[in-house]
Amino acid sequence: MLSWDDFEAPKAKTTEPQPVPGALQSEQQAVTEPGAAYQSGSASSAPAPTAAQSQENADSRSSATAAAPSSAVEAARAAVADLDPAPGLEELEMGAARIQVDEKRIINCRADLNQLVPFKYDWAWQKYLDGCANHWMPQEVNMNKDVSMWKDPNGLTEDERRIVEYSLGYFSTADSLVANNLVLAIYRHITNPECRQYILRQSFEEAIHTHAYQYCVESLGMDEGEVFNMYREVPSVAKKAAWSLSHTQSIGDPTFKTGTPETDQELLRNLIAFYAVTEGIFFYCGFTQILSMGRRNKMTGVAEQFQYILRDESMHLNFGIDVINQIKLENPHLWTEAFKQEVTQMILEGMELEVAYARDTMPRGVLGMNAAMMEEYLHFIANRRLSQLGLKEQFPGAQNPFPWMSEIMDLRKEKNFFETRVIEYQTGGALQW
Ligand SMILES: [Fe+2]
Ligand SMILES: [Fe+2]
Repeated sequence: MLSWDDFEAPKAKTTEPQPVPGALQSEQQAVTEPGAAYQSGSASSAPAPTAAQSQENADSRSSATAAAPSSAVEAARAAVADLDPAPGLEELEMGAARIQVDEKRIINCRADLNQLVPFKYDWAWQKYLDGCANHWMPQEVNMNKDVSMWKDPNGLTEDERRIVEYSLGYFSTADSLVANNLVLAIYRHITNPECRQYILRQSFEEAIHTHAYQYCVESLGMDEGEVFNMYREVPSVAKKAAWSLSHTQSIGDPTFKTGTPETDQELLRNLIAFYAVTEGIFFYCGFTQILSMGRRNKMTGVAEQFQYILRDESMHLNFGIDVINQIKLENPHLWTEAFKQEVTQMILEGMELEVAYARDTMPRGVLGMNAAMMEEYLHFIANRRLSQLGLKEQFPGAQNPFPWMSEIMDLRKEKNFFETRVIEYQTGGALQW
């Protein structure tokens, strides 16, 4: 288990600022910049100072400041005095009435987005708090048993090894696709601060997930190039990634703007493609396979990483469903019959791609499951996603052949599925000054 000491930065030997090569260089560039109007001519032709000289200069600058303001300080004071607050706050109306909860909307809101409160969507803020309470890091998971099992020629069957490779192959890049979609595409179009707060938390969790997959690949000594390129080279993996990517392109375009029925629907398409399909369907075959492995006491470190990730993902999915349904409520004109049909097809396309992945990764029965059981499970999952979005289920009577998956998703933070440890992040971080 990690202690907070592992995260503590090395203590500086003195309280003096230490010269940093990059910082020194940029500082030097700043003073020699031709456009620096208030810089004296002699300084711009001076040779680069050594680190010691730079420190001396810094000391003399601070004493000079106490005596008489330099031209640089005077220029900074003048700039601040003349600062016009309006341009930095974009479309804000200065002196406008304070924000009322009723003005807040998930998309196309024109109220000030820099003010978190008053809350309108308590569920979004609660999910942010829950996400923080579930914090974990990949290095906390002991991978020793996995390393010996992976290196032992008799540790796993060929079919089991294939499952580990495909899972890491898909997920090692899938979480980057999700993170990029969050920060480069949807963040600026979700015009609600409490939802943005959760999206920022989710983005960090996606970084932790990519870290976890990289940590597994590194611990097991796998071929990194092979694993991280599977999303482009292995058809059943590549198709899933391509499907997700096809739904991020238009929203990621810097000229894209919401505000018309067409563009608002396009944003909804993206949210459904990422939250309901990518995170809500594409993750399920791989997660089920790896967690089944853990239940059989195989690759328990990898399985534990996946278990924590699945807990995070189920919250991402729930947040996404809440956001989509709230947008529907606030913009009922977007949820047309034609659009409902289109969304139903998106869910079914996702399910078909995941079934193809299941067949590819399980040519035979393995770990107490097979492709047919996974197909049944994916019908059950597709039904869930459809009903969560208020759409008609397409597979009447589909059952969940893996009820233990639900238990894992509902896992509380105090105890993990394999009962190996307890982590208390919320009380562990006392600072030393
Ligand atoms: Fe993730
Ligand atoms: Fe996620």
